[in-house]
Amino acid sequence: MTDARHLIGLLLGTEEDWPSAFQEILRRLGPVVGAGGTRHVFDTERITIEPFGLRDRPRYDLVIDRLAYWYYHPREWLKKAALMDDVYLLNSPFTFQSMEKHAAYCAMMRLGLKVPDTVLVPYKNPVDNSRYAYTSARYNRQFDLDAIADRIGYPLFMKPYDGGAWRGVSRIRNPAELHAAYDQSGEMLMHLQKAIDYDVFARSLSIGAETMVMRFQPEQPMHLRYAVDHSFLSPQVGAEVVTIGQLVNAFFRWEFNSCETLIKGDDVYPIDYANACPDVALTSLHYYFPWAVKALVKWCVFTLATGRSAKLDMETGRYFEIADRTDLTYGEKLAAYRGLADAYFETERYYDFCDGRLTRIDEIVLDWVAGPDFDRLLIETVRSVYPAHEHDEFIGHLRGLVGLWVRDENTRPQTG
Ligand SMILES: Nc1ncnc2c1ncn2[C@@H]1O[C@H](COP(=O)(O)OP(=O)(O)OP(=O)(O)O)[C@@H](O)[C@H]1O
Ligand SMILES: [Mg+2]
Repeated sequence: MTDARHLIGLLLGTEEDWPSAFQEILRRLGPVVGAGGTRHVFDTERITIEPFGLRDRPRYDLVIDRLAYWYYHPREWLKKAALMDDVYLLNSPFTFQSMEKHAAYCAMMRLGLKVPDTVLVPYKNPVDNSRYAYTSARYNRQFDLDAIADRIGYPLFMKPYDGGAWRGVSRIRNPAELHAAYDQSGEMLMHLQKAIDYDVFARSLSIGAETMVMRFQPEQPMHLRYAVDHSFLSPQVGAEVVTIGQLVNAFFRWEFNSCETLIKGDDVYPIDYANACPDVALTSLHYYFPWAVKALVKWCVFTLATGRSAKLDMETGRYFEIADRTDLTYGEKLAAYRGLADAYFETERYYDFCDGRLTRIDEIVLDWVAGPDFDRLLIETVRSVYPAHEHDEFIGHLRGLVGLWVRDENTRPQTG
């Protein structure tokens, strides 16, 4: 039997929870026997930041990146690793740097999704560039902000075209709020977007071929935003939300991302789906945390053991061909997009691989989450996130929700 060794690099910011969980589950999983009897051995390492030669070969076969979105030295290292060394990246900075919220809105509108009406307005304040005064005097056209807002209709949202973490987001009910928000926007480039008066908010976290749709309550504090609710969507709407998440990710080649959709009746409105560092914190995901770490381990193992190669070319034309067909309904287009997304993620092959080669993973994760090592991680995480007088409350809160996952997992019908 031959051995193939794979080194997974973790490029991290401040987080300690999921990387510890990921490393521990992979350690407990041990070698995985792939097709042809090859024994795949996995190691992980936390990547350090240091000078690198552009021709140096990295030691990593796959990198999970949580840092390059805001830290540029590792971002440039990732670009070199993608271009020169074929390292498999979750996610590639090429796909994220050029594809912020605005680009994603455009693409999904083109594909016929129900993205709320959105207008991009010019900067309120001059960008810091000596040529600005001349250029704006000559070419910036006066515009009537009120007329744009009237056309969209109140209430509406003003938010940065490349936003994240609620930076600069405001809900606007009238012209006074509109002008106040625009005046404050300064050098941020802003969208005005029609507010959807929704029944429920679904946030889906996608990792490779898997998607978890969760009921999200943005008005709640962080630890209560994800509600544990397994039947808040009708089967049909639930399937549409999953398809939209998979479609967005396959389209942009994002393999670790979250997608936000607002649901009114049977209509699904996607509003945010370019999250390079999706929230996977134990303190916010609680019940869903074991699923997320397990899915991440499974996707990395599948990718490396099957020799899946990174696909940088977007081939957007194949999606647009479907979008532009006049003989297909919205539902038929979604089904066709789903076919492309399943092909991109090799969904069938992935589930076959998990069924045949990762037969013990459910048991390993359950065992770990139900045991003392996980409880220690939970306590350490709470201590690092909350002030001392809140420790007992949050340890109890998380133990309760994770305990619920353990109970559900123990009684879940075995699927394979
Ligand atoms: N068109 C809309 N209709 C209704 N609510 C909206 C709309 N756009 C944004 N919101 C609300 O504002 C919040 C923040 O908006 P958005 O997700 O676009 O910004 P963000 O900065 O990416 O936030 P995050 O990082 O939390 O996802 C959403 O979670 C939602 O509650
Ligand atoms: Mg959002």
